Amino acid sequence: MDGNGRWADKHGKTRQFGHEQGSSNVYDIFLSCVELDINTATFFAMSSENMNRPREETEFISILLDNSIKKHLPDLLDNQIKFKVIGDISHLPENIKKTIEHAETVTSMFTRYKLNIAYNYGGQWDILNSIKTLLDNKLEISNENLSKYLSTGSDFPDLIVRTGGYKRLSNFMLWQAAYSELIFLNTLWPEFSSKDVSNILNNYKLIKRKFGKVD
Ligand code: IPE
Ligand code: MG
Repeated sequence: MDGNGRWADKHGKTRQFGHEQGSSNVYDIFLSCVELDINTATFFAMSSENMNRPREETEFISILLDNSIKKHLPDLLDNQIKFKVIGDISHLPENIKKTIEHAETVTSMFTRYKLNIAYNYGGQWDILNSIKTLLDNKLEISNENLSKYLSTGSDFPDLIVRTGGYKRLSNFMLWQAAYSELIFLNTLWPEFSSKDVSNILNNYKLIKRKFGKVD
């Protein structure tokens, strides 16, 4: 979800305002995914590296996360959507960790739709964590096991969309992205709409995915 700052700049507003707009777009976009029967969507809110931004900004974004979980929890429950935060949240304030853990616990039994927020997430962190788990539990270091102990489990994205004009993954799901389709848009995140979701999905459906094989 890149481009909040540039969107704010374009409108003569503060970066904080840009993050507020960006944050309020997440659940709307998730619902348009659900309407199109995309059953899992992960929103990359903060990378491990984004955490090196000024404390004022990272704190503000963590409060936005807290507020938006509280706001949407009733709807998550009504619509039976499983919620999860992936990433290292150990350094978040206790109250925010509680909000996250509560939302995860009360939605943990749902299976059909999954909303993940990647916060202080890095693909490298994810892979290292998985390897550490395998070593700690004396499990075989295999492709299958490494996949299983990632924060996403063996649930890999079919499609990764990045807004904001840059063509890079910025440490997002490095292992899981092995065969993901990649889409890069110039649209800034706060402007990204449900129309964009349906356009992307229509284009995605035309792609013949071969996973390295021949027809
Ligand atoms: C949002 O966009 C992504 C976050 C890390 C919260 P940016 O804050 O990176 O916006 P730009 O790149 O400055 O426009
Ligand atoms: Mg950016």
